[in-house]
Amino acid sequence: VIAGQPPASPDDAGLLREGDAVLLIDRKQRVYMRTLRPGSRVSVRGRPILAEALIGRPDGSTLRTERGETFLVLRPTYAELIPHLPRRAQPIYPKDVGIVLLWGDIGPGMRVIEIGVGPGALTLGLLRALGTTGTLVSYERREEFAAAAQENVRRFHGPAPNWMVRVADAALGLVEIGVDRIVIDVPEPWTLLDSVATSLRAGGVLTCFLPTVLQVKQLVDSLTAHDGFAAVRTIETLLRHWDVSGRSIRPAHRMVAHTGFLVFARRLAPGVRAAELTPRRPYSSASTDDDIASTELEHDEGGDPRQDLGED
Ligand SMILES: C[S@@+](CC[C@H](N)C(=O)[O-])C[C@H]1O[C@@H](n2cnc3c(N)ncnc32)[C@H](O)[C@@H]1O
Repeated sequence: VIAGQPPASPDDAGLLREGDAVLLIDRKQRVYMRTLRPGSRVSVRGRPILAEALIGRPDGSTLRTERGETFLVLRPTYAELIPHLPRRAQPIYPKDVGIVLLWGDIGPGMRVIEIGVGPGALTLGLLRALGTTGTLVSYERREEFAAAAQENVRRFHGPAPNWMVRVADAALGLVEIGVDRIVIDVPEPWTLLDSVATSLRAGGVLTCFLPTVLQVKQLVDSLTAHDGFAAVRTIETLLRHWDVSGRSIRPAHRMVAHTGFLVFARRLAPGVRAAELTPRRPYSSASTDDDIASTELEHDEGGDPRQDLGED
């Protein structure tokens, strides 16, 4: 169970429990994730630490080792957990999961399908967003990945009676009909568009995560050519950490410069043909009145750069 999860009972809110994952943070801000198990010693940099002593102590305690080193002990937040998540496939990182949840418009009470579970990083984010009233069905074609994701959900989320994993190739079709949202993280999402169109309700949001730009091109071309989808938009998020120490305040020297792109599309209502929509080009990313005004201004003053490329 991680920091954002509800406690088993109000009495032990904030207390570290057997089976919890904890972060041990040293003086130099190096972070180690370990699991608290009674009777077992964990080691950090080859040195044993009596983790059992932490069970029952408050989240946010400190631990002093036999060698006099002090660690801050914290349950990981979602964003802190994901880089440590046991994995054999690439997870979606928290900066992108945050965008998936809000731009993909996922919230309590919704029926959601996820395609491509991997280690379950996105699954953990989806389950939190859906709460107890929403339902999630995750398609994963590799049984061992499905099992690993189930173990990660058990450890880091807790019981999830509203979650079902289908070990199946999503290209063979989706069982659920009329779902509110679908999120895809597989290499060739364009092969799934007919299945998605059948399963997603009118107005439903499709979100796809893609690491490379050629995948984005193939997906956007396929969505634009498909009669069931419109309002296609593509975004990328850059996140930069800052070092703030005394008067030395600057961006961190290192950053994760690239994770992937997100492509969103909306399911059209039955009987509406995307071909009726003109011009058939990706939806503007303008999202506020100011954005819309400045977009119009740019177009008025400089023209649409896409026209120069002959795409209109
Ligand atoms: C990159 S991983 C997903 C990672 C996951 N989104 C996360 O955040 O942890 C992609 C997964 O998709 C699965 N996959 C690929 N094609 C699939 C398909 N057609 N149907 C179901 N699963 C598929 C792979 O086995 C792999 O586990």
